[in-house]
Amino acid sequence: MSTTETAASTSADAPAIDTDKLMGFVFRAVDEVGATLNAALVVMGDKLGYYRDLAAHGPTTPAQLAERTQTAEPYAREWLNAQAAGAYVTYDPSTKRYMLPPEHALAMTDADSPAFLPGFFQIALGTVHDTQHIVDAARSGAGYGWHQHDSDVHVGCERFFRPSYHANLVGSWIPALEGVQPKLEAGALVADVGCGHGASTILLAKAFPNSTFIGSDYHAESIRTARARAAEAGVDNVRFEVASAQDFGAAPGGQRFDLVAMFDCLHDMGDPVGAAQRVREVIAQNGTWMIVEPMAGDHVEDNLNPVGRAYYGFSTLLCTPSSLSQEVGLALGTQAGPARIRDVTAAGGFTRFRSVAETPFNRVIEARP
Ligand SMILES: C[S@@+](CC[C@H](N)C(=O)[O-])C[C@H]1O[C@@H](n2cnc3c(N)ncnc32)[C@H](O)[C@@H]1O
Repeated sequence: MSTTETAASTSADAPAIDTDKLMGFVFRAVDEVGATLNAALVVMGDKLGYYRDLAAHGPTTPAQLAERTQTAEPYAREWLNAQAAGAYVTYDPSTKRYMLPPEHALAMTDADSPAFLPGFFQIALGTVHDTQHIVDAARSGAGYGWHQHDSDVHVGCERFFRPSYHANLVGSWIPALEGVQPKLEAGALVADVGCGHGASTILLAKAFPNSTFIGSDYHAESIRTARARAAEAGVDNVRFEVASAQDFGAAPGGQRFDLVAMFDCLHDMGDPVGAAQRVREVIAQNGTWMIVEPMAGDHVEDNLNPVGRAYYGFSTLLCTPSSLSQEVGLALGTQAGPARIRDVTAAGGFTRFRSVAETPFNRVIEARP
């Protein structure tokens, strides 16, 4: 036994405990408790305008931050100290001022940047908010629907995914699909299924004014927000309707869709095979089904990394309960991986399947009849 090992108990079979390993694990966990609280601090800083204020000004005292954001100084002070301890801001003891480095300012304040982070924290915190419901559901085997969650989940989802769509969708994902861009430029009929607040639908509608876009989602509140977002954006070649993925697509005159898109939602559905069958029914014979799913490999061991960790967390608390709340309840999981997605498309009657693009967070798949 090494000097750092002690017997865990008097039992002869009890494993020896390496005290260094134990304390290493405990201190890692202390950091994670800080990180857990930091999710709320980031959302607080985003909602109160602390990051935007720090980004707009140089080194700042708590009193200055409080005054400029019209918040109470003790909150500004303790928030700044927590941010400094987490290295989100720097602290200069000689001036007692705090500063947000320019790279952090970009990630915390520029909602168009693919590095934008507050949406990621907002959806995470909204998800954690509903933990007790998931604890209960795990005991009973029930699900917990997307529509039942705190609004931070819905708004955070939009704010998390939109920067990546803004950076990639029109410039690289659409061009990666075989023959789709020319169709969209000429004028195509497009369905965006499970569109949430319609971030992807509106980006596409703006980029391809000759095409018609129909966004749909089973969550009525999300569709109301999507309609408001479209009005704000001034796009008139898009409409939104409440429909599930298993029965969307009543196109005008029974016209078939040239492109059906699903962004980060197939794995949330209870019946993804039913959705695939519905896509097959309403898609043109030479049409394309674009499936954007979280980045994942086919095997658990492929996903044991920081992105996989976040996504398995969302899978447990958000996506799998969503699937289990619906008919069939297939529970694909957020990290299903391309092989299982291919099985779903094949079961729906699609014969061709290709992974066409990827980012650290998303894999883009093309399925064709
Ligand atoms: C993670 S969100 C993605 C939203 C949006 N596509 C985006 O990328 O921002 C998943 C979406 O799938 C929707 N959804 C879940 N099950 C559905 C179903 N069976 N039919 C239609 N939409 C569904 C949810 O309401 C939610 O808006």
